[in-house]
Amino acid sequence: MSVDHKQSDITHTNVEDAYARWAPIYDRVFTAVMKPGRLAAAEALNRVGGRILDVGVGTGLELPMFSGAKSIVGIDLSAPMLEIGRKRVAELGLKNVESLLVMDAMNLEFPDASFDAAVAPYVITTVPDPARTMDEMARVVKPGGELIIVNHIAATSGPIAWIEGMMAKRSAKLGWRPTFPWEIIGDWISSRADLELLERRKLNPLGLFALIRIRRK
Ligand SMILES: C[S@@+](CC[C@H](N)C(=O)[O-])C[C@H]1O[C@@H](n2cnc3c(N)ncnc32)[C@H](O)[C@@H]1O
Repeated sequence: MSVDHKQSDITHTNVEDAYARWAPIYDRVFTAVMKPGRLAAAEALNRVGGRILDVGVGTGLELPMFSGAKSIVGIDLSAPMLEIGRKRVAELGLKNVESLLVMDAMNLEFPDASFDAAVAPYVITTVPDPARTMDEMARVVKPGGELIIVNHIAATSGPIAWIEGMMAKRSAKLGWRPTFPWEIIGDWISSRADLELLERRKLNPLGLFALIRIRRK
C-alpha cells in the first residue's frame, strides 16, 4: 500500500474556515468524546513537567489537566478557537499558562530546545505536512525531552475503515483527515536517528485514537 505522507486535501485556509465554524460549538461536541486522549496526554506530560508547548491548543480543553507543567505556551492557527481558550484560562485562573498565541505549527517561532516537552492533542491529522510539523516539535524540544501526540490512526480493514473512507471525501470541510495512516508518524520516527518511540497505545473510544510518546535523544 502506498502512503500519502502529505495531506493534499488539507490546507491552512480550509482548516481556518473549518475551525471558525467549529469554535462556537466545539466544546459541546468534543469535550467528552476526546477526553480519554487529553487525560492520557496529561498523564504523560505531567511526568515530564517543566516548560511545555501545546501545539494546536484550540479552546484549551486540555489546559486544566496539565497541572504538572510549570509553564505552558499554547499555539493555534485559529483565532476564534484561541479566544475561547483565553476565556477558559481567565475563568479557571490557570496560573501556569504563560501565553496562547496565533501561530502555524509548521513554522514555530521559538528557538531550538526551548521546551521540556511538546504535546499535540488531536492536531497532526489537521496539518498539510505532518512530518514538517513533527520536525518543528522536535526542534523546539530539549534533548531528553518528549513529544506527546494524541492522534486518530485509521483502521486498515473492517467497517471502521469503510466509514473512514467515506468520511475522507469531506476532509476539506471537516478540517482533518479520517484516513490518517500510522506510517506517517512511524516512517517519520524511523527517518530520524535522534528520536526513540517510547510508547504507542490505543485509546478509547473504540481504539480510534492513539497516544504516541517519542523521546528526543
Ligand atoms: C481537533 S482540534 C484540537 C484542539 C485541542 N488540542 C483539543 O484537544 O481539543 C485541532 C486544532 O488544531 C489547530 N490547527 C490545525 N492546523 C494547525 C496549524 N497548522 N497550526 C496550528 N494549529 C493548527 C486547529 O485550529 C484546531 O484548534
